[in-house]
Amino acid sequence: MTNEKVNILLLGSGGRECAIAWKLSQSQLLNHLFIAPGNAGTDQYGQNLNIKPLDFEAVAQAVLDHKVDMLVVGNEDPLVAGIADYFKGRADLQGVRVIGPSRLGAQLEGSKDFAKGFMERNGIPTAKYFSVTAANIEEGYKFLEAQKPPYVLKADGLAAGKGVLIVDTLDEAKQELRQMLGGMFGKSSATVVIEQFLKGIECSVFVLTDGVSYRVLPVAKDYKRIGENEQGLNTGGMGSVSPVSFANDAFMAKVRERIIEPTIKGLQKEQLPYCGFVFLGLINVEGDPYVIEYNVRMGDPETEVVMPRLQNDLVEMLLATADGHLADTRISIDPRYAVTVMMVSGGYPEKYEKGKPITGLDAVDGSVVFHAGTARDAQDRLVTAGGRVLAVTSYGATKQEALDQSFANIAKINFDKKYFRRDIGFDLK
Ligand code: AMP
Ligand code: GLY
Repeated sequence: MTNEKVNILLLGSGGRECAIAWKLSQSQLLNHLFIAPGNAGTDQYGQNLNIKPLDFEAVAQAVLDHKVDMLVVGNEDPLVAGIADYFKGRADLQGVRVIGPSRLGAQLEGSKDFAKGFMERNGIPTAKYFSVTAANIEEGYKFLEAQKPPYVLKADGLAAGKGVLIVDTLDEAKQELRQMLGGMFGKSSATVVIEQFLKGIECSVFVLTDGVSYRVLPVAKDYKRIGENEQGLNTGGMGSVSPVSFANDAFMAKVRERIIEPTIKGLQKEQLPYCGFVFLGLINVEGDPYVIEYNVRMGDPETEVVMPRLQNDLVEMLLATADGHLADTRISIDPRYAVTVMMVSGGYPEKYEKGKPITGLDAVDGSVVFHAGTARDAQDRLVTAGGRVLAVTSYGATKQEALDQSFANIAKINFDKKYFRRDIGFDLK
C-alpha cells in the first residue's frame, strides 16, 4: 500500500487507451494524467500531449517536463521497439516506473516464431508449427502437405493485426507462402510460421505480472469480423463481452496451470524482464485451452469491457506491479456483464471517410462511451478520425440487457455512414 500521489503518462490513442484513462482517472492515487497522443475522448480524463509513442526522446522529455512517475504503454509498437529498455538505460529517468515488458519480453508479440519456440520450450499447449524462410521453403511445402485444410500462415513480425492468412486449399497455401516470403508484409513476413489449424471458440485472458506474481483480470471475448455472424473481413474488433460463459472455474484452472504459470516461469527462466500485461489469445478445443497468440499489452476492444468490470484501484495495482509486490493485491470483479459495441465508419475496414461530425453524445444515458478514432476539427467540432470511432460500453444483469442498453444509446449517436454489429456475444450462452 502506498499513499503517494503520482503523475502518469499513458501512451496510445485508441479505445483501449480511453478505457485505461477512464479507469486511471478514478483513482485517489492519481495526481495528473497525460496521454500521448490520445484522442478527442481521452482529454476528459487527462491532458493529451502531441507526441508519437515511438519517439522515445520526446516521450522521455515529456516525462521529465511533467514530472511523470509512471509510464503506462498501451500499444505494442513502442514495447517491441524497446521503450522499457530505453527508459532503464537513461540515467535521468531512473525511478520512473514503466508498465510494459522489456524488448526481450515483448518478443512474445513481436515475433511469432519466438513465441512458438517459447511455448515449445516451456511445454505450453499451442498449435503444431513450422517456421519457414526463403532458405527452407521446400520444407515449408512438406509441412503444409502434411496438414489438413484449412491452412494457417502467419507473418513472424508485427503486421498491424493483418499478418495471419487462413486459406482452404494446399495450392493457395503454397502460393500465399511464396508471396509472404516475397515481402507481402515487408520484413515482417521474411519468416512465416505455418500452423496446424485448431477448431474451437476463442477468448482473451489478461494477466498482470510483476515478473514473479500474477493476477488474472476479467476474461473477455472479442468479435473480429466486420459482418454479423463473424462474416467478412477482419477488423481491429467490432465489440466484446465479459464474462465469457465457457471460461468457467474448471477451464480457468487449466489456463492457470497449463498456460499462465509456465508462461511466468518461462519468462524468468529465459531472463525476459517482464512487468506489465500479458494478453493470452486462447482457443478452447473441447475443453482444453491452447494459445493462439501472445500480446504484450491489453486488447482492444476487450479493455473497454475489462476495465469497467475491474473494481480495484488501477493506479494502486500498477504501482504494486512496478514495485514488485503484486502478490499483496486481491482482484475484485464486478459480477455484472459488460459489453461494448463499436461504432465504425461506413466502408471500414476498407476505404472510409474521416472528418464526419459526431452528434448525440450528450444524450447518452447509462452507457460509457470510449473514444477510439475521434478528433476535433478546425471549428472544434467532434469528428470521426478513424475506422473504429466509438466504443459504447454498458453493464447488465444479463448480456442481452447490457447489449440493449448499448444499442439504445447508439441510436442517439450519429455520424454519416455509421455502422455497428447487432450480434456481439451471439455465440455465447
Ligand atoms: P492472431 O493474429 O495470431 O490472433 O490470428 C488471428 C486469428 O486467426 C485468430 O484470432 C484466430 O481466429 C485465427 N487463428 C490464428 N491461428 C490459428 C490456428 N492455429 N488455428 C485456428 N485459427 C487460428
Ligand atoms: N482484440 C484483439 C487485439 O487487441 O489484438
